[in-house]
Amino acid sequence: MKLWGGRFSKSTDKSVDDFNSSIRFDARMYAQDIRGSQAHAKMLGKQGIISQADSDLIVKTLGEILTDIEGGKVEFTIDAEDIHMNIETILISRIGDVGKRLHTGRSRNDQVALDCRLYLRDESEELAEMLKGLLKTILTLADENLDTIMPGYTHLQKAQPITFAHHVMAYYEMFSRDLSRLNDWKKRMNIMPLGSGALAGTTYPLDREFVANELDFDDITKNSIDGVSDRDFVCELAFVLSMIMVHLSRFSEEIILWSSNEFGFVDLDDAYSTGSSIMPQKKNPDVAELARGKSGRVFGDLMGLLTMMKGLPLAYNKDMQEDKEQIFDAVDTVKMCLPVFAGMLSTMKLRKDKMLQGAKGGFTNATDVADYLVKKGLPFRDAHAVVGRMVAYCLDNDTVIDALSMEEFKNFSDIFAQDVYDAISLDTCVNMRKITGGPAKETMKKIIDGYKNN
Ligand code: ARG
Repeated sequence: MKLWGGRFSKSTDKSVDDFNSSIRFDARMYAQDIRGSQAHAKMLGKQGIISQADSDLIVKTLGEILTDIEGGKVEFTIDAEDIHMNIETILISRIGDVGKRLHTGRSRNDQVALDCRLYLRDESEELAEMLKGLLKTILTLADENLDTIMPGYTHLQKAQPITFAHHVMAYYEMFSRDLSRLNDWKKRMNIMPLGSGALAGTTYPLDREFVANELDFDDITKNSIDGVSDRDFVCELAFVLSMIMVHLSRFSEEIILWSSNEFGFVDLDDAYSTGSSIMPQKKNPDVAELARGKSGRVFGDLMGLLTMMKGLPLAYNKDMQEDKEQIFDAVDTVKMCLPVFAGMLSTMKLRKDKMLQGAKGGFTNATDVADYLVKKGLPFRDAHAVVGRMVAYCLDNDTVIDALSMEEFKNFSDIFAQDVYDAISLDTCVNMRKITGGPAKETMKKIIDGYKNN
């Protein structure tokens, strides 16, 4: 009979059992379920709601069940519906009536809210470590490439010269924000819901603060209806994960472009590339493509969660069981992407010659030619027009601005003098941009050193 079977006159249809049960996906929360139940049982004993001896036996047996699950000695059943009732059923099968006292003053509604928080909090620690690993990889890559000049793009058209360090440090900023979002998320989610009961709290004198303390929560929920209805923390984590995927996906897109024959800026390591079954010459950036592609499923998880929640009346509704597969999928996906992406980055070879070559084309120093004229007194708009004419001239004559003779320069403006060549060299363009946030080696180095000591 089901743990809740008392008021029923017949058993559920087999199809309903399959449909209703969540054990096939919530079994992964077994450790958190046991941890939560142990804290609850301890508190019940301390408060004299159950005897100390019963409390001790429950805590001890739950510990044994945990060991047995981890040793592969336990089989969960669909009959017991979900991880909460599976563990309770096993407990009762081992210690009989004492086990039946565990669920005093608790509902599966506050239990599942607790377990999800504990589970996602544990996962978030791993995610944070992985993000830190990726940040470290990026920092090393940047530190090694403070002098590696490449073209910077807007509209995917060459714009101004930058360095590879400057470029990848943009991703460092993005992933740092992701890490800080994860930390912020924890501040809001680390609140203990047990004691909310089914929705209206309980008449037992539970010590909620004690349970919160046992389980490392910062606070307890302040409204029992919200305590069991709230899945903000699930949606919010799905958003944090989606944002990580946006960043991984943009970075992937660049790596895919850079590794193409047309760009040739990077050469991916063989260990992080794959071949074609038909074209012998191919080396494909599959890791980057998959990371880009997997962003879609994480966004889908977020959309699914928001849509699932938006029409639900308070308090618990079974719809909310659907939160798990989606947030688990989002967590699993990001956890799979982060380390492999970091591995791909740290092993890829840079084709610095190609990057420099790229920066030399496309008139990336045109802004600096205009700035040269401005520094000698010409209003910026006039300077812009002069250089525009110079670019058109260069295009007609298949040359670049720095290759023009002094005579040619003078044809456009007599302000130009010999010092222009130095003023518009790629090295000057990059290293005179010392403004905080800019690509100059000394500026970038300062930023990187600051992050290293963090
Ligand atoms: N398996 C359920 C879930 O994941 C647990 C809570 C069930 N509560 C209930 N009243 N049916 O949401």
